[in-house]
Amino acid sequence: MNDLELAPTSTPNMTNVLEARGLGRSYHGKPVVSDVNLAVPAGQTVAVLGPSGAGKSTMLRCLAGLEPIQTGSIGFQGRPLSEAGGKPRSFGGRIGMVFQQFNLFPHLTAVQNVALAPLRVRRLRREQAHAEAVALLDRVGLPEHHDHYPFELSGGQQQRVAIARALAMRPELMLFDEPTSALDPEFTREVLAVMRDLAEDGMTIVVVTHEMDFARRSADRVVFMAEGRIVEDGPAATVFDSPAQQRTRRFLAQALGE
Ligand SMILES: Nc1ncnc2c1ncn2[C@@H]1O[C@H](COP(=O)(O)OP(=O)(O)OP(=O)(O)O)[C@@H](O)[C@H]1O
Ligand SMILES: [Mg+2]
Repeated sequence: MNDLELAPTSTPNMTNVLEARGLGRSYHGKPVVSDVNLAVPAGQTVAVLGPSGAGKSTMLRCLAGLEPIQTGSIGFQGRPLSEAGGKPRSFGGRIGMVFQQFNLFPHLTAVQNVALAPLRVRRLRREQAHAEAVALLDRVGLPEHHDHYPFELSGGQQQRVAIARALAMRPELMLFDEPTSALDPEFTREVLAVMRDLAEDGMTIVVVTHEMDFARRSADRVVFMAEGRIVEDGPAATVFDSPAQQRTRRFLAQALGE
């Protein structure tokens, strides 16, 4: 028997890590995200841009499986994550999420914050969880802060601990919701550098951001949302240099201060 005969008849589409079709979410009957179609291939970095209230955070929470959806479906690595009207399925830490507010445990050190989920969920031995946490903190540029508590860290350092904490669950997809918008410019740069490294290492990323320079330089693709819908979706260079939609042009002109 050759390899072809062994292949299952319906192979899930493994090239897309994430696939949303006709995704809709409303609150109290008011649509907030409508008919979103978004397929994210492995290794791609997608920057989501758009005005306040466009539904970016809501979409991201749906993609993370943190909120139910009312229409459409979401798949993660070829498996159903969320279906209209159903409860989203949890993929544990396989989908990492980083928010604007870092939400670290205040009573735990950096290493303890990062090692916690691997200990509890991945059931690693203490020494191994600790060793992995140390390596991750080094990777996000915090080799000297392993034993610091959150209150002893700057916002940028806390956000990098939060990223290390998400990475500790070995995610195959990272979702970021305005990870730098609570930070001063200096700390913003540090966090963006960590995200750029992740992108270059081949992580699949969807990031909601107002950092236009980051979106243009580090994202492969830009999705522009307004009023709950994807208005424009294309290669970062194309969307920035020659946006097809008037709405995108206006937003970019304002965001870029032109
Ligand atoms: N839990 C909720 N209950 C009711 N309405 C909500 C809820 N969360 C969000 N909304 C509404 O949904 C719309 C989209 O909100 P969302 O936070 O997704 O926008 P956003 O694009 O992330 O905006 P911003 O750039 O300000 O973060 C807003 O009108 C908001 O008021
Ligand atoms: Mg938001």
